[in-house]
Amino acid sequence: MLPTTLLGTANIPNNGGELRLTQRGDEFSISLKGVGGILMTSRVHGSEVALAELGCAHIQGKENTKVLVGGMGMGFTLTAALKAASKSSEVVVAELVPEVIEWNKGPLGECSGRPLNDNRVVVKLGDVAELFKTKQPTYDAVLLDVDNGPESFTHADNNKLYSSESLQAIQQTLKPGGVLAIWSAWHDPKFPLHLKKFRFKVETKTVRAHKGKGSRHTIYLARKI
Ligand SMILES: C[S@@+](CC[C@H](N)C(=O)[O-])C[C@H]1O[C@@H](n2cnc3c(N)ncnc32)[C@H](O)[C@@H]1O
Repeated sequence: MLPTTLLGTANIPNNGGELRLTQRGDEFSISLKGVGGILMTSRVHGSEVALAELGCAHIQGKENTKVLVGGMGMGFTLTAALKAASKSSEVVVAELVPEVIEWNKGPLGECSGRPLNDNRVVVKLGDVAELFKTKQPTYDAVLLDVDNGPESFTHADNNKLYSSESLQAIQQTLKPGGVLAIWSAWHDPKFPLHLKKFRFKVETKTVRAHKGKGSRHTIYLARKI
C-alpha cells in the first residue's frame, strides 16, 4: 500500500482550523484537521471544472473580460476559467490561506497544469468577500468555491458570503449580464429563491464529481438581469 505523506499544514486565518496537504502516490488531498473532512482530492475535480465552464460560457470569444475565482484550492476551476477567457482577459484568484498559493507553486501545481504561471492571473490574498466591497461593476463572471457551498464548512464566516447584504454587493460588482456561479456539495431548493431576490435570473445545474460519474454536486448560476 502506498504511504501518505504530509506535505504541509496551514492555519486558516481568524478561524482556528488547520488545512493539511497530503500526497499518496500521484494523488494530492487537502483536508481539514480535526473534523476529518477531506476538502478535495486531485483525482476528483469534474465539478470544479464544470463551475468555470458553466460560469464562463458567456465570455467565450469575448475580449478584455474579467473573471473572479474564489478560492484557489488545487486550481482546477482557475485553469478552466483561463481556458474560457480570451488572451486579453484577466482572471483574479482570491485565496484566504496564503500557503494554498505556495502549495500550488510547488508539486501540487502539476495537477491542474500550473495555472499560476499564466500571466493573465492576478492573485489576491485574503477573504474574497473583501473584493465585493467596491460595489462597482467589475467582473463578467464570479466563480465561488470557497467551501462546501452555501452551508459553510471550513470557515464559519463564509455563511456571510451568501447573506442578503453580500449577494447584493456581489450583484453590484458584476457587469450587466455577468454571472455568479456557486459550487455546492448539495442542492438546497431555498437557495435559488434567495438568489432571485437580488435581480438575478437563476438556474440550478447538477454535475458529476468525476468524468460523468461519482457524487452529484450542484452549481447555482445567477445571471445579473
Ligand atoms: C474546495 S477549495 C476550492 C477548489 C477549487 N475550485 C479547485 O478547482 O481546486 C476551497 C478554497 O477556498 C479557500 N477559501 C475558503 N474560504 C475563503 C474565502 N472566504 N475567501 C477566499 N478563499 C477562501 C480555501 O482555503 C480553499 O483553498
